[in-house]
Amino acid sequence: MVEAEDLQSLKTVALLGGCRGPIWLSSQSLGNVLGISPQTASRRLIALERQQFVTRSMKPDGQYVAVTREGEQALKREYADYVRIFNPEKRRYTLTGIVISGLGEGRYYMSIPHYKEQFGSSLGFEPFPGTLNIRLDAASIAVRKQLDHAGWIDVPGFTADERTFGGARVLPCRIAGRKCAIVEPSRSHYPEDIIEVIAGCELRKTLNLNDNDTIEVEITHD
Ligand code: CDP
Repeated sequence: MVEAEDLQSLKTVALLGGCRGPIWLSSQSLGNVLGISPQTASRRLIALERQQFVTRSMKPDGQYVAVTREGEQALKREYADYVRIFNPEKRRYTLTGIVISGLGEGRYYMSIPHYKEQFGSSLGFEPFPGTLNIRLDAASIAVRKQLDHAGWIDVPGFTADERTFGGARVLPCRIAGRKCAIVEPSRSHYPEDIIEVIAGCELRKTLNLNDNDTIEVEITHD
């Protein structure tokens, strides 16, 4: 880990042209640029040289400083951090499993108008009344645990006809390029190897899926 003040001084030397070869640089002039005393600037240059981020040589007309390859690497690491801040790469995850049949509960819940509306407005598609159940393979169970902080959308619970319906959370995903979402009820302990997926279409028909067929679920998030 490079000290912040060393990076600042190194950046200044580089901005003055120090990556292209030795530049004339007095402690006074570096101090002026950084708003520090010549003594402090001199100490900083010595610290940079000790860490092999710069080379210094004394000539009759003063001190010459050049940024070394190591120095350039340190600056490039800093640069990479900024690239990540301003151009965050999307992370992609794939869950693999087989299609299984459930107990028909998905159809019941996904037919309730309130849920349909809530899921529809959160996801941008009107869900087919049902959930496709998928049993994940061992590797995907581990991947799923990493998804806990992905872009889940909360769907609050509600009361209707004196009955309480629990909330859920949904995670947008894609199956064979189609917009889908993983649904998890908020207050239930779900087996870790099963996921339930909703989609705008009947996936079994559209993708010609039967029980035990292998299926891939793609999740992309920042
Ligand atoms: O009976 P099960 O719990 O598996 O399913 P369900 O939630 O009642 O859904 C009815 C049927 O539609 C099941 O065969 C699901 O696998 C299927 N389904 C589908 O093909 N595409 C969806 N988007 C949702 C469910």
